[in-house]
Amino acid sequence: MDNYEAFKDQVYKLTKIDLSSYKEKQMRRRIDSLVKKNKCTSYDDYVKLLKTDKNVFDEFVNFLTINVSEFYRNPEQWDLLVNEFVPELVKKFGDNLNIWSAACSTGDEPYSLVMALSKHIDLRKIKIHATDIDKQVIATAKVGLYSEKSIANVPDEYKKKFFTKVGNSYQISDEIKRCVDFKEHNLLSDAYPKNCDMIVCRNVLIYFTDEAKDDIYKKFAASLKTGGILFIGSTEQVSGYKDMGYKRRYSFFYEKEQ
Ligand SMILES: C[S@@+](CC[C@H](N)C(=O)[O-])C[C@H]1O[C@@H](n2cnc3c(N)ncnc32)[C@H](O)[C@@H]1O
Repeated sequence: MDNYEAFKDQVYKLTKIDLSSYKEKQMRRRIDSLVKKNKCTSYDDYVKLLKTDKNVFDEFVNFLTINVSEFYRNPEQWDLLVNEFVPELVKKFGDNLNIWSAACSTGDEPYSLVMALSKHIDLRKIKIHATDIDKQVIATAKVGLYSEKSIANVPDEYKKKFFTKVGNSYQISDEIKRCVDFKEHNLLSDAYPKNCDMIVCRNVLIYFTDEAKDDIYKKFAASLKTGGILFIGSTEQVSGYKDMGYKRRYSFFYEKEQ
């Protein structure tokens, strides 16, 4: 299939998602398989379908944004977060922490953050700002129903305390839900929150071009307070972190320097 450049323009007009910032080979392979699945033989046909069929449109956005997630993804990193970084942040900034879970998908990550913080901070004081580009995953996050597999890494005491079994799924409790504010946000084009004590952004920038990644890590640095922490995914790194104003604390944790 050709005309991918024109297709990218159309997608931007329809969704505000700029495919030029995503790694092309991988994205194109995914899109081509979806176009074929919908029995279209060209990008133009598929765009026509996107414009007329809401289900196809929703499927496209959802598919494009790749939203696999799970609670306490890479548990050893969460141990560091709970035992080292949260107490340190509380000591530095107090217990009214300003935390942003960027590209939060179905809520597994921000809800894990609430549980992790609850070891040190009263639940009534916890507020996580959670954002994603995809409104379908935000809707799922607000419902808060999860499979046994997605909560497998949740510590047993929290499973008992904060989840109720409903059929084959697990419903997260209202007291955890109350601590998270979900909003739509595009990391490539929307304004970033300011004065963050911690930003958690994991397993999304891997899909972006190096230029888009650099730009986002610089914007995160501008959003963090001095001494604030950036927590990234286990296959990621911030290239050129010193020039961006970060100090590397561990492989996946960076501290914002003056
Ligand atoms: C693989 S999930 C990662 C979820 C979670 N952070 C984790 O590590 O388990 C990637 C998420 O990034 C979101 N995403 C993709 N492009 C985005 C963008 N430009 N702005 C904000 N979120 C985006 C997707 O909708 C998806 O929910």
